[in-house]
Amino acid sequence: MSHIYISPSILSADFGRLAEEIRDIESAGCDWVHLDIMDAHFVPNLTMGPPVIKWIRKSTQLPLDAHLMIENPIRWVEDYRSAGADMITFHVEAADDVQATINKIRNLKAKVGLSLRPNTPVKLLEPFLSEVDLILVMTVEPGFGGQSFMPEMVNKVKFLRSKFKGHISVDGGITAQTAAICVDAGADVLVAGTAIFGQKDRKLAVHSLLGAKRSV
Ligand code: DX5
Ligand code: ZN
Repeated sequence: MSHIYISPSILSADFGRLAEEIRDIESAGCDWVHLDIMDAHFVPNLTMGPPVIKWIRKSTQLPLDAHLMIENPIRWVEDYRSAGADMITFHVEAADDVQATINKIRNLKAKVGLSLRPNTPVKLLEPFLSEVDLILVMTVEPGFGGQSFMPEMVNKVKFLRSKFKGHISVDGGITAQTAAICVDAGADVLVAGTAIFGQKDRKLAVHSLLGAKRSV
C-alpha cells in the first residue's frame, strides 16, 4: 500500500496561535503543511502572502505545500519559493503560459503542482502530466474552507490515476468518508482543513482520515 500523505490546510487553524497549531499537526503525524494563498481576484477571498510563509517556515521542518489561488502565478512563484515553499501548485485557469510557469517553478528547485477548478475539464491537464510532480484536484469551488465535497470529482481522480504516476491530491470537503472514496480512486494526498483543525484531538483526526489506509 503506498503512503497516504496528510496535508492540513491551515486556513482553518487559529491564526493567533499559528506556530503552536503547526507543532500540533506535526506531532499528530501529518506529512506536509498546506498553505492556501488567495488574492481576492482568482478567488473571492484574501489570505496570506510571502511574509507569513517566511514565519511559518521558521516554525516547522515539514514540507510546505503552497496552493496558489492567484492570477498570473508566474509573477509570484519566486517570492513564494524564497519564503520557503517546497511545493508550488498553481491553477491551470490562472496562468497565461502554463508551460513557462512549470519551467520557472522547476528552475527554482521546487516541486511543481498543477490544479483545476471543479468545472475545468481534466483533459486540459493532459499535455502537462509528464511535467509535474503533483496534481491537485479541487473537490469544492476554491476560495473557502468548510464546504461540501463534490462527489463528481472522483472521476477526475480515477482518470488521472490511470495516466499519471505522481501525487494526486484532493482538496475540499475531505472527511473520513470522502477521504476513503478518494484514496480508493487513486489519490495519495489528503488536504483537510476543517476535518483536522476543527477537532481538538488532531491525532485522532488524522487516524480517522486515514482509516485503515496507514498507521501514523
Ligand atoms: C479551498 C482551499 C482548501 C480548503 C480546505 O479553496 O483550497 O484547502 O481550505 O478546507 P476544508 O477541508 O475545510 O474543506
Ligand atoms: Zn488548498
